[in-house]
Amino acid sequence: MTIVLKLGGSVVTDKDAPETVDREALEAASRTIAAHGDRDLVVIHGGGSFGHHHAAEHGVSRTTGTHDTEAIRAIHGAMGRLNAAVVDALAAEGVPAIPVRPLSAGRRSAGGELQLPTEQVKTLLAEGFVPVLHGDVIAHEEHGATILSGDELVCALGGALSVDRVGLCSAVPGVLDGGDVIPEIDAFEDVAHALGASESTDVTGGMAGKVRALLDLETTAFVFDRNGLEPFLKGEEPGTRIGWER
Ligand code: IPE
Repeated sequence: MTIVLKLGGSVVTDKDAPETVDREALEAASRTIAAHGDRDLVVIHGGGSFGHHHAAEHGVSRTTGTHDTEAIRAIHGAMGRLNAAVVDALAAEGVPAIPVRPLSAGRRSAGGELQLPTEQVKTLLAEGFVPVLHGDVIAHEEHGATILSGDELVCALGGALSVDRVGLCSAVPGVLDGGDVIPEIDAFEDVAHALGASESTDVTGGMAGKVRALLDLETTAFVFDRNGLEPFLKGEEPGTRIGWER
């Protein structure tokens, strides 16, 4: 059983205070992950207050690139600090976490298509490690560098590895329609009316972008909040199930 788990930036950081780790939440998530460590697991984390503030400050998004080396270093540097905090927190609970940094490996073609080698992730998994990737800046042909979201990484790895379950742990208990969690989504049009914009600075598309990306995956995906993490890792179905029923 291979699982790809994304910890949203809002789960591991205080999304409105620049470069602030939510230690309590990160430690709790790490303990939960450690308690269910009997399977192949890839962890991906988002940017939260480490990525989005720098990206917005420098006007960089998934589609608007930059050639400003200071901007690229600022975003990548901040994401490196968050990645180290996540890897350290997992390691402190005994999870064999290893950082894998997308800027050093992947690229986008001029048309925006992500090309990400995954052999190293496969080998790390096979050798019993837990690769920990993160949203990043990435080389973008003819655009300099653009933002790579954690959700894109989820999709790239979900497509390249044989993944059984994908989980997105975010600030909300599922995809919401008003105040209610939508139990399952099979087509974007069915829920387009319910998906508003993310309230905090988010350069990668908020919930609508997540749902679109997950619908493209040929794997069952779940969107849940921190209370859903343990049930998800136990094989239950917390929050919203998106796409693909086996
Ligand atoms: C954003 O990744 C990465 C950067 C801004 C560098 P995500 O878009 O996956 O982050 P969250 O989960 O929404 O914070």
